[in-house]
Amino acid sequence: MTTTDQDPPAVNANKALWEKGDFTRIAETMRDSGEALVATLGITDGLKVLDLGCGDGTTAVPAATLGGDVLGVDIAANLVAAGNARAQSLGLTNLTFQEGDASDLRDLDDDAFDLVVSIFGAMFAPRPFDVAKEVVRVTRPGGRIVMGNWIPGDPTLVAQILKISSAYSPPPPEGFVSPMTWGVEENVVERFAAAGVPAENVSCEPDTYVFTFPHPPSELLAAFRAYYGPTMNAYDAATADGRVDELQAELEDLFDQKNTVPDGQTTSIPATFMRVTVAV
Ligand SMILES: C[S@@+](CC[C@H](N)C(=O)[O-])C[C@H]1O[C@@H](n2cnc3c(N)ncnc32)[C@H](O)[C@@H]1O
Repeated sequence: MTTTDQDPPAVNANKALWEKGDFTRIAETMRDSGEALVATLGITDGLKVLDLGCGDGTTAVPAATLGGDVLGVDIAANLVAAGNARAQSLGLTNLTFQEGDASDLRDLDDDAFDLVVSIFGAMFAPRPFDVAKEVVRVTRPGGRIVMGNWIPGDPTLVAQILKISSAYSPPPPEGFVSPMTWGVEENVVERFAAAGVPAENVSCEPDTYVFTFPHPPSELLAAFRAYYGPTMNAYDAATADGRVDELQAELEDLFDQKNTVPDGQTTSIPATFMRVTVAV
């Protein structure tokens, strides 16, 4: 068999990135904020909700607890399995997780959902214009899309982790569009406009997630190093370049500086993101 320029890459780098680690270990530090965000979404019994890039259900679980009929879709098989295990252990029969790619939701029907939620999820998918087109397609007219996107250049935790990590990682392949571009209002408006949603139906406002962890910030950093795909890749590249101590020192400083717990024995770190609401 020969390969051509049209053949898809043998390895899906986007899927491999998130299956490399175990995001459940980071997600455990985000549960309170996930629940608080979902409480603002007006979820009522039977509302059809899609949580895209759902991980193990930080927002999907509270959405189902509030009575939504929730489907979680994620590219990472390990996170889909973890989500289904959580749904089962919580007895949430109105919550299912399945594998899928936010850039191509071919298994989902047009107009199938009242609400599509994607908190730091779809922003990581390739082909952002396809993502906007797909989320609009599966949302019913009159429905809503709510995205949470990290903001480039933002001084708070996650934008800084991603900035530092990318400085130690190899350059991305040609044509790669940074996920952080989803944190720029003009890009968001342009992508939804191309999917047929006028600018006046798109609103962007700052919001905050708090990472809480019952150990010092250095241990939260250790969890990112061991389990968070983008940070794992940065450590791999820095190790190969002989710069791993430099990366470690830079991230230790960041986590210490951002921790708001005065004695540093536990961790509470706020991180700003852009909350995007789209009326379809
Ligand atoms: C930072 S995690 C956030 C997970 C979850 N939304 C949460 O708040 O805990 C990013 C998630 O997006 C998923 N993801 C990345 N690319 C994706 C894609 N193309 N389609 C669907 N999910 C994707 C990852 O597997 C991962 O679960």
